[in-house]
Amino acid sequence: MDFELKTMRLAQAARAKADALVFLVTQDTAKAKADDALSALAARAIKTGDFSAEAGKLLPCYAAEGIQAPRVLLAGAGDGSAQAMRRAVAAAIALIKSGPARQAVLCFAQTPSPAALRAAVLAAADAAYAYTETKPKAKPVALTGVRLALPAAASAALKTAFAQATATASGIRLAREWGNRPANHATPRQLAAAAQAIAKEKGSHIDCEVLGPKEVAKLGMGAFAAVARGSHEELRFIVLRYQGAAKSQPPVALVGKGITFDSGGISIKPAAGMDEMKFDMCGAASVLGAFEALRQLQPAINVVGLIPACENLPGGGATKPGDVVTSLSGQTIEVLNTDAEGRLVLCDALAYAARFKPRAIIDIATLTGACVIALGHVRSGLYATDAVLAQALQQAGEAALDPCWPMPLDDEYAEGLKSNFADVANVAGRPAGSVTAAKFLQRFVPEGTPWAHLDIAGSAWKSGKAKGATGRPVGLLVQYLLAQAA
Ligand code: BES
Ligand code: MN
Ligand code: ZN
Repeated sequence: MDFELKTMRLAQAARAKADALVFLVTQDTAKAKADDALSALAARAIKTGDFSAEAGKLLPCYAAEGIQAPRVLLAGAGDGSAQAMRRAVAAAIALIKSGPARQAVLCFAQTPSPAALRAAVLAAADAAYAYTETKPKAKPVALTGVRLALPAAASAALKTAFAQATATASGIRLAREWGNRPANHATPRQLAAAAQAIAKEKGSHIDCEVLGPKEVAKLGMGAFAAVARGSHEELRFIVLRYQGAAKSQPPVALVGKGITFDSGGISIKPAAGMDEMKFDMCGAASVLGAFEALRQLQPAINVVGLIPACENLPGGGATKPGDVVTSLSGQTIEVLNTDAEGRLVLCDALAYAARFKPRAIIDIATLTGACVIALGHVRSGLYATDAVLAQALQQAGEAALDPCWPMPLDDEYAEGLKSNFADVANVAGRPAGSVTAAKFLQRFVPEGTPWAHLDIAGSAWKSGKAKGATGRPVGLLVQYLLAQAA
């Protein structure tokens, strides 16, 4: 989707040439004097009861009086808040994206807040995305360009918000795309190639290094390697480094769970819905998405991205329940359940992060079904050892409309991880399954480094008719990184 920011008063917008014109009608618009063709149209529609400014309300009009564009879509934008704009634009773009319009003008009657403008861009990009990679005959989305028309020249803050939003939209798109691709089209090797492709772009300031099974074994990542053993598909450990600030500045480390397919391994999952475990690399995809946004925005910050990528399959060589493996940290782990594999690949990546002396480590993982039970599909689970980091991430989530919610890390939750045969077991009992997973990870965080863990099992993808990756929490991560750079 191509976006453009324009200055256009309503009277000009009415005369503008466009395939389609979306008029965002807020409660304020509805109250204002109607002295242009667009406002007059909205006023008439409200008066007859066919339309209201309620967020998400739509009224398609054709060949409207005094309006140059053949189709006008009235879209209720409520109080003009970011939430309301998101609803309005999502509904409007969903309606017109299949064509025939190729270009649309999104027309604002009042100057939006930076947050509302950002929400409008992200909602348009989101609504216009269609997965086509393995559907070669699918008709592509007709709508490819959106002009955002503001009534007055955009302030610096609005221009910044616009640039951040379009870059974030690209990052979200990339994360959705890799999340959606079937496991046989998104192997660890293909993920690594995707990371390398971002780094290779001119002026990216991103460096990408990819390790294979031999290097990983040599490093001593016995937990990560144990997960990959059951599959013929080779593991990859992806290291991305974005340098936007002085080399001396410690980076933020993002660690993304990259299980390209999670069958459960020997502790195999039930067949129903197992296809959705292709989404088990959405944490990794969100790291790639964040790097894509960094590449485009070039903020003054250093960021490291670490992605342990492999399949979790049963097989003659697979790790068995009860096997004890040695992690990079030196701690031994009794693998009581091979389906608790995410924490095994992450624990080695967390320990590896120490070599970058990061100022903070944030891991992102579709880690537990229990988190879906706790928080559903609305908020991601947020665990943190540092109050400042926790607050920054929570605030970023609110601002980006990509929210998370704090979860506890009391030591009592780690009781169940005790093992008679290793330093730690990889599972505890059923109670508080999302918390005990976080407690497992916490043991592997480099001493003294602020750490946060985002359990995105409920937020990274949707099931049912709209099955597909959401691109979350790229919005949250980019918002956080930009705030840290500022
Ligand atoms: N990838 C899954 C978590 C998951 C399950 C996310 C369903 C979204 C929906 C993870 O690897 C897993 O299998 N976790 C187990 C842990 C258990 C064995 C302690 C789970 O949640 O059941
Ligand atoms: Mn699993
Ligand atoms: Zn998993």
